[in-house]
Amino acid sequence: MMLDVIDISKSFGGLSVLGNVGFGLKSGQIKGVIGPNGAGKTTLFNIITGVYRPDSGQVHLYTNESRLSLHCMRPHRIAREGVGRTFQKPSIVWQLTVFENALLGAMNQHRRQPVCGRKKLKEWTEYCLEAVSIDPQMWHSEASKVPIAVIKKIEFARAIALAPTLVLFDEICSGLSRMETDELTALIMAYREKEGVSVLFVEHDLRAVKNVCDEVVVIDFGRVIFDGGIHDAFKDPKVIEAYIGEERA
Ligand SMILES: Nc1ncnc2c1ncn2[C@@H]1O[C@H](COP(=O)(O)OP(=O)(O)OP(=O)(O)O)[C@@H](O)[C@H]1O
Ligand SMILES: [Mg+2]
Repeated sequence: MMLDVIDISKSFGGLSVLGNVGFGLKSGQIKGVIGPNGAGKTTLFNIITGVYRPDSGQVHLYTNESRLSLHCMRPHRIAREGVGRTFQKPSIVWQLTVFENALLGAMNQHRRQPVCGRKKLKEWTEYCLEAVSIDPQMWHSEASKVPIAVIKKIEFARAIALAPTLVLFDEICSGLSRMETDELTALIMAYREKEGVSVLFVEHDLRAVKNVCDEVVVIDFGRVIFDGGIHDAFKDPKVIEAYIGEERA
């Protein structure tokens, strides 16, 4: 395993949002994290990336040299250890350009790949923007003026800028057309092939999930109801029930 999520529980006030959530992620694997609205997926990502402390449980990241206890670490440290993420609500500085937004990500790098000096930083930013296939003609446009598909790619570029070993995507395909979704999922798979990263992929678009994921963990009301092969997930009565329940709601 490269990531081990063990028995995570989290409440906000009296509301239990996650209860004993556990699963593993193998090195180089793309694992879907799916479940109805409000299931606790984003909360889980916030725990893995140090935004929230769990009430109980552990998150271990295995790197070449060591085992890191992410549940005790702050977000910037976790990012430096090579855990990149994208945000469900894009966290973009709208008055800055596409390039400048990516540059901000590049300035916050992986501890094993320090990019020193202005020229190197510029080159690294260009590399990241190319890796996510943003048309260079858009690099110097203001973020507020570019289409949503480009915004999603900026989020992706910033995650890549950390030279991550693990990337967490939180609904990177939401708001995109079918064609844009296919392009983005192809980019994610190509990036995984090239860099050998591991990926957690939260997404409501099940077609996208089926395209990119080897396995899924299904969360419903803060509990894991399925963990295994993507093709078996939708044969599982508990999973079917959770999704039918959502349609009725
Ligand atoms: N900071 C917070 N304070 C109080 N409640 C919270 C907080 N963050 C999340 N919640 C609650 O936790 C529950 C799970 O939210 P979360 O955003 O993790 O779900 P999700 O699975 O990501 O849903 P969606 O698919 O809609 O993004 C919701 O009921 C939400 O209102
Ligand atoms: Mg969410």
